[in-house]
Amino acid sequence: MKPQVLLVEDNDSTRFGFIRYFSKDGYEIFETTTIAEAKAKIAEQHFDLMILDINLPDGNGIEFITTARQSDPCIPIIVITGEGDIPLAVEAMQRGADNFLTKPVDNAALAVFMRKTLEIGVLKQQHSARKRLEKKAPFFIGTNRTMLEVHELAEVAGRSDIPVLITGETGTGKGMLAKWIHQQGARSGYECVELNCSGLRGEMLSREIFGNSRGAFTSADQDRKGLLDIADRGTLFLDEIGDMSIDVQAQFLKVLEDKSYRRLGDTKLLRSNFRLICATHHELDNLVSSGQFRQDLLYRINMMTIKLPPLRERMNDLPELVTYLLNSLGSPAETLSPDIMRILNSYNWPGNIRELKNVLERAILLTPHGSQIRQTHFSGLTINRQTPNNASLNSVHEVEEAHIMKVLEQMGGNIERAAKTLNVSRATIYRRLKKSR
Ligand SMILES: Nc1ncnc2c1ncn2[C@@H]1O[C@H](COP(=O)(O)OP(=O)(O)OP(=O)(O)O)[C@@H](O)[C@H]1O
Ligand SMILES: [Mg+2]
Repeated sequence: MKPQVLLVEDNDSTRFGFIRYFSKDGYEIFETTTIAEAKAKIAEQHFDLMILDINLPDGNGIEFITTARQSDPCIPIIVITGEGDIPLAVEAMQRGADNFLTKPVDNAALAVFMRKTLEIGVLKQQHSARKRLEKKAPFFIGTNRTMLEVHELAEVAGRSDIPVLITGETGTGKGMLAKWIHQQGARSGYECVELNCSGLRGEMLSREIFGNSRGAFTSADQDRKGLLDIADRGTLFLDEIGDMSIDVQAQFLKVLEDKSYRRLGDTKLLRSNFRLICATHHELDNLVSSGQFRQDLLYRINMMTIKLPPLRERMNDLPELVTYLLNSLGSPAETLSPDIMRILNSYNWPGNIRELKNVLERAILLTPHGSQIRQTHFSGLTINRQTPNNASLNSVHEVEEAHIMKVLEQMGGNIERAAKTLNVSRATIYRRLKKSR
């Protein structure tokens, strides 16, 4: 397809000359003579390049650069200025033009410019596509119904600014999802400040959140910014909010109500415009019933709740997730044998995706370079195997099998040595291994 060029130029002879020259040179030219027309054009279709005159009947082309950039961040822009308008040209570049030429325009020179500028445009597009991929790739969704709903909610959350509460068992990806939501939204250019509320108590926690003035307490030898300060215009991510002590809950509630706060030991009112995301593995309703969590605070933080399912409830995604994780662990070529997949499939995964990731990482480490990941590297899972509705039922056989696997692993997969340790024949081990497939 020919490169499509938007030409914004009110001078008839310049415009006709340009069209004659560049239509022959393999471009498709769309001509406009005013900013208003150009605006409408840009809104309805994508252009590979824009050539923009500065003095237009309905305004200054330079101001239009900003608008054009907003609707298409990657479009290459060449500005045409009058002779001696260098300051204007500089301003145009500052606003995001890629190149400028002064009148009278030499079409041959412009042709070179256009080629170069188009190359820049392509590079920019590739770069921004890569950036988008980087932003999107790290959070695995899969095809599980519940996860698709999570994804939809998370996208809504990303576009909006309301407080989000993410719940789910440990290792289900709450932290990851929080950052993902932050990155989707308009605040992504600012900080996503994370604080784990379970590590700090009382004054230490409030000090982290609010900051302190010099002399607020004995060791406070200087003014210190709190996380609320740093999260201004960005996101404040409070992890494990269920563990926030009740006195800090009261202080924090006040921040949400008043939209302002004070550093410890200071009287000055400060403001912070942050977006709030909270996460917890607790059922906050239960904590409210038992008086450990304030109901009014819960109302403030759970305008939108996203519940991440445990891994055992999305096992249909396991194969894809395993591939994804192996990839992210730097072993993209690795595939696991059906035996291993069977073990992974029948395990309960109380530690969810984090546990799966750790298990895979360990297996990769145990596997010598160039050889296949072996079943023995997953023996621990066989021992702990349980299913949610059928939790206790490891048969004697399974326990034995698991024990054999474990010894085998300890012996580095050497059957002879394992047989000696277990005081059974090698044939017995072979038989048991075969049976367990
Ligand atoms: N959807 C996902 N895609 C890719 N990796 C994931 C996903 N969910 C979790 N992980 C991985 O699992 C690990 C745990 O994730 P994360 O820390 O977000 O869980 P969490 O729910 O916050 O756990 P905890 O309650 O223990 O803090 C991380 O290493 C993360 O990379
Ligand atoms: Mg976490």
